[in-house]
Amino acid sequence: MKVAVLGFGTVGAGIYEMLSHAEGLEQGPVLVRPGKDDAPFKRTSIEAVLAEPGVEAVAEAMGGIEPAFSYAMAAIKAGKHFVTSNKALVAAKGIELAAAARDMGVGFLFSAACGGGVPFLHNLSLAVESDMIVSLGGILNGTTNYMLDAMQRRKLSYGEALKDAQKLGYAEADPSADVSGLDALRKIVLGSAVAYGVLPTEGLYNEGIENITAEDVSRIQARGLTCRLMAKCGPVPGGKVYAYVEPVLLKASAAECSVLDNYNMARYEGKCSGPMVFMGQGAGRWPTASAVLRDLSCILKDKFFMLRADCRRGSADNEACRHSYYVRLPGSLTGCFEVKSYSETDGQTELVTKPMSVKAMHEMAARLRAEGAKMFFAAFED
Ligand code: HSE
Repeated sequence: MKVAVLGFGTVGAGIYEMLSHAEGLEQGPVLVRPGKDDAPFKRTSIEAVLAEPGVEAVAEAMGGIEPAFSYAMAAIKAGKHFVTSNKALVAAKGIELAAAARDMGVGFLFSAACGGGVPFLHNLSLAVESDMIVSLGGILNGTTNYMLDAMQRRKLSYGEALKDAQKLGYAEADPSADVSGLDALRKIVLGSAVAYGVLPTEGLYNEGIENITAEDVSRIQARGLTCRLMAKCGPVPGGKVYAYVEPVLLKASAAECSVLDNYNMARYEGKCSGPMVFMGQGAGRWPTASAVLRDLSCILKDKFFMLRADCRRGSADNEACRHSYYVRLPGSLTGCFEVKSYSETDGQTELVTKPMSVKAMHEMAARLRAEGAKMFFAAFED
């Protein structure tokens, strides 16, 4: 099967290279920006790519929603299978792409969009055929895991850790999606779509790691805890789901503490199977390209979809999820929370809240920050 590649950045170039030695697959043309067509296999328009004789599948690794969505629709309507590593695209337009692909009888797979090289969505999509998924989530962003690990073990500052993650090709072109938790949120939204047939677009919360400092990391370590950015999702009665991303403080015995560098640890719990854990590199050229190639191999074997035909957009409801939170904030704001314990070190106030809902915590933080407060918060693991 000849595969065209859209984009020739970190992931696109990896896919193109891997296609040269993948069984049953061959290199097709590559779409690049005008002026970047410095090799005979490069094209600068989607029309030229789709017109190339023999192209049966398109692998997209451009990122962003437009023009990726228009190009994806053009490819599908031209009868090409479509695979992508682009979580922003699938989180926003996955339902339309799946419907168009079903109409045209072509495949639409996106396992590289959640967990990079980790075969999480594929296994989840198999599990839902025979089991009920009680919950899913985990560490789904390689950049922030790399940063938190580097800040804790190598004592790097936030800025140094981010620079390293960018140099290593883990971060998005605009790393704000990584550090704000939006990238992980998009991935858990895809997990929800696969597991529950609900792609939530409202009621979602993402707290990232933008507000953590080297001092926060030291204080958390002094409590014998490790901070990881985690995504969580599960069903809520009434056809909704809970879905959110936030930093979590873990005891040393938690498996997530041993997830280092750019690794991800995704998990689901099946009602019958119990917990299933998938760990591997969630970012970077080769892990992500390998997941795209895995999708293409699935299409060769006639596995065309991981989204159910009845998948729909829906809302998240994070009211019933409750935790105690660790909060670092100006002392004057302590009264905004019901406090379990409280301490003051070097002019910084740290408090532990009584259990409160995810919705209440995220909304309180948004309100206080809008009023100019500088604060960091993280949930204690249940
Ligand atoms: N920027 C993403 C991450 C890439 O760090 O996980 C893989 O999705």
